[in-house]
Amino acid sequence: MDTLIEAVDGENPSSDKCVKVIKKASEIIKKGGLVAFPTETVYGLGANALDPVAVKKIYMAKGRPSDNPLIVHISDISELYNFVAEVSEKAKALIKEFWPGPLTLIFKKTDKIPFETSGGLNTVAVRFPENKTALLLIKKSGVPIAAPSANSSGKPSPTRASHVIFDLNSKIDMIIDGGSAEFGLESTILDVSSEKPCLLRPGVVTKQMIESLIGEISIDKAITEKLSQNERPKAPGMKYTHYSPVADVIIVDGKTDDIVKTINELVGADIEKGISVGVIATIQTINSYRTDNKNLTLLEIGDRSKPETIASNLFEVLRKCDYLNISKVYIESFNEDGIGFAIMNRLKKAAGYNIINV
Ligand code: TXA
Ligand code: MG
Repeated sequence: MDTLIEAVDGENPSSDKCVKVIKKASEIIKKGGLVAFPTETVYGLGANALDPVAVKKIYMAKGRPSDNPLIVHISDISELYNFVAEVSEKAKALIKEFWPGPLTLIFKKTDKIPFETSGGLNTVAVRFPENKTALLLIKKSGVPIAAPSANSSGKPSPTRASHVIFDLNSKIDMIIDGGSAEFGLESTILDVSSEKPCLLRPGVVTKQMIESLIGEISIDKAITEKLSQNERPKAPGMKYTHYSPVADVIIVDGKTDDIVKTINELVGADIEKGISVGVIATIQTINSYRTDNKNLTLLEIGDRSKPETIASNLFEVLRKCDYLNISKVYIESFNEDGIGFAIMNRLKKAAGYNIINV
């Protein structure tokens, strides 16, 4: 299949180009096709959420297991009440504060949402994004849009259109290139379908931000620990090895000077064995690493004092490891405050919880 690739300036949604691109994309969605589009978190792979045949194509294109449910994206809060059975007072408070934005909420679903979309569950995940291109696409399509991250299953989520092209070109109808995703980490997911809300995936909307509004919430174990084989996370997607490049990822945790010293030693040993090795470093440390070997690649991830820069580059640098055929990559750990908690959650999953404490 030929994949149509069109760029838009998301800040200028009324431009002729943008109007034309959105019109084309919405026609594809209405006809049951697949369109990858930018959101403020990561790129999504969209289809009509109410059309089981269209939704099945998402699973095919991504190579995604069919028991892994999709997030339904809406462009107006009123649409929510068509698809969910009940909205608690706590959910209402969260919606008022954080929608539109990078927070996904899980509710009991109505019959309008097909089980193909909810991965066979009686609940549905709903998100009201704030990215202008995403909102226009949903509005113009006239239907809610089911969209997982637009990557091949198991790969890091796409934060640039080039990532979507790499994974899905010729497998989907259209890709809308809206530039780099603003945040670069997938939305926070909170289950509000039972009495005590439960965090299933940390993101830019932090646990502290949620708790200051609605009181204490619980955290699914899958966020902080590696589950054993017979344990099931509440978000089925958290059980699959996500976010991982082909390279073995190793996190090194400790005081910065000790981290740098240890990584330089480990890299030295790897180079002697002829291993193609990478180091992911911050602007604070990048000049402290050795650079004296062709088998060694240094990758800069951002500014440690501005964690939002780390979030926005994380999946890009993990993907670069694949593009550069790196087989082992060391990365410095980050402080888990604020969005650092979400950054470290994605990083630990990419590393399969392989952490060296120094
Ligand atoms: O930021 C995002 O959320 C992006 C953009 C495109 O909106 N989407 C995204 O979707 O990350 P996806 O499918 O890659 O991740 C959704 C996660 C999966 O782990 C899935 O298992 C979980 O949400 N999920 C979806 N519906 C659920 C439900 N009803 N109950 C529990 N977990 C659910
Ligand atoms: Mg995903």
